[in-house]
Amino acid sequence: MNQYLFVLLSFVHVLADPDFAKLDGAPPSKIAVVGAGIGGTATAHFLRQHFGPEVSIDVFEKGSVGGRLATVTVNHQDYESGGSIIHSLNLHMQDFVQQLGYVAGKTAVFNGDEFILEETDWYLLDLFRLWWRYGISFIRLQMWVEEIMEKFMRIYKYQAHGYAFSSVEELLHSLGGSGFINMTRRSLSESLLELGVSQRFIDEVIAPIMRVNYGQNISIPAFVGAVSLAGAQANLWAVEGGNKLVCSRLLKLSKANLIQSPVTNITLRSTGIRRNRQLKNTSIVKTKLNCVHLDL
Ligand SMILES: Cc1cc2nc3c(=O)[nH]c(=O)nc-3n(C[C@H](O)[C@H](O)[C@H](O)COP(=O)(O)OP(=O)(O)OC[C@H]3O[C@@H](n4cnc5c(N)ncnc54)[C@H](O)[C@@H]3O)c2cc1C
Ligand SMILES: *[C@@H]1O[C@H](CO)[C@@H](O)[C@H](O)[C@H]1NC(C)=O
Ligand SMILES: *[C@@H]1O[C@H](CO)[C@@H](O)[C@H](O)[C@H]1NC(C)=O
Ligand SMILES: *[C@@H]1O[C@H](CO)[C@@H](O)[C@H](O)[C@H]1NC(C)=O
Ligand SMILES: *[C@@H]1O[C@H](CO)[C@@H](O)[C@H](O)[C@H]1NC(C)=O
Repeated sequence: MNQYLFVLLSFVHVLADPDFAKLDGAPPSKIAVVGAGIGGTATAHFLRQHFGPEVSIDVFEKGSVGGRLATVTVNHQDYESGGSIIHSLNLHMQDFVQQLGYVAGKTAVFNGDEFILEETDWYLLDLFRLWWRYGISFIRLQMWVEEIMEKFMRIYKYQAHGYAFSSVEELLHSLGGSGFINMTRRSLSESLLELGVSQRFIDEVIAPIMRVNYGQNISIPAFVGAVSLAGAQANLWAVEGGNKLVCSRLLKLSKANLIQSPVTNITLRSTGIRRNRQLKNTSIVKTKLNCVHLDL
């Protein structure tokens, strides 16, 4: 139905590449993004920043704006039913919600019958109670998760400098070396016991966090386990009125046209330029710019 420059798949690279716009002599006039979840709407936003006001950006959505950021209404109250917790180190989300209100939650440990521990407004009291029950396990855990998050944060630098990776493994290796790769291949419980975290802490705190976040147990691979644990730290928040509001806000900011329609077929019309580039030592980046045809 329409000719578009389709850039979604290579967007991280496209964003940061200063000569992208000059490849064909002119910036693209029309860009299609498929999906209005946080990925698609953030892409529309970054593309607008990169290409300026001239380019027309169409975002196709077959369902609701927000995708897996969604809410359900129960008893006149809205509850997050998809992505619910936003970590304070998620710098893009921090940036996106500048003008939206957000709320912070409190944590408690429930053993099925009673609350074993409840977060209070007194930080020192919370620390004391944690230490009383679990020794220094929680400090060990905290330091472990923080070290992982710190490495994870390199992802923003890569994006800013236009680095791209052709596989998830390459990306992980670049962020955290063989340590990250190993963490995808061994269990969380194994890693934590080695770290010196007590079995009681694993049973009472870690196991419920895995169950709540991912419906899993402590045999989950250590890497995703650490991500889940980061989602159980303090400094977490959600957008008042629903995290999905971030998506509609990004759509508005990007002045993209929302087209409420499923994309059923993407066909290549003409092959653009393929470039291979060595980016530092990290990886070879292939950019393929295609004119495509979208069926709606
Ligand atoms: C239950 C649950 C809990 C979660 N909890 C957290 C959490 O606490 N913290 C956190 O950070 N993350 C959490 N996540 C993960 C987070 O929600 C997702 O990683 C994120 O929302 C994915 O965004 P996305 O844009 O990549 O994909 P999606 O949100 O899935 O967006 C894709 C969009 O594309 C549309 N689409 C697909 N195909 C087509 C087509 N052919 N034509 C047109 N439109 C199409 C879909 O309708 C959808 O709207 C959770 C996820 C779930 C499901
Ligand atoms: C990851 O595992 C490999 C192979 O077992 C090992 O050689 C390497 O030292 C490990 N890396 C780290 C950081 O532990
Ligand atoms: C965790 O779940 C997996 C898959 O559901 C199962 O095979 C394993 O036995 C469970 N491990 C524990 C410690 O419960
Ligand atoms: C997509 O469209 C092309 C060209 O119109 C057609 O050849 C192809 O069969 C279509 N594919 C599907 C899955 O509909
Ligand atoms: C990049 O390559 C140079 C020279 O080949 C080498 O000295 C350096 O350690 C490499 N850096 C990384 C991050 O691999």
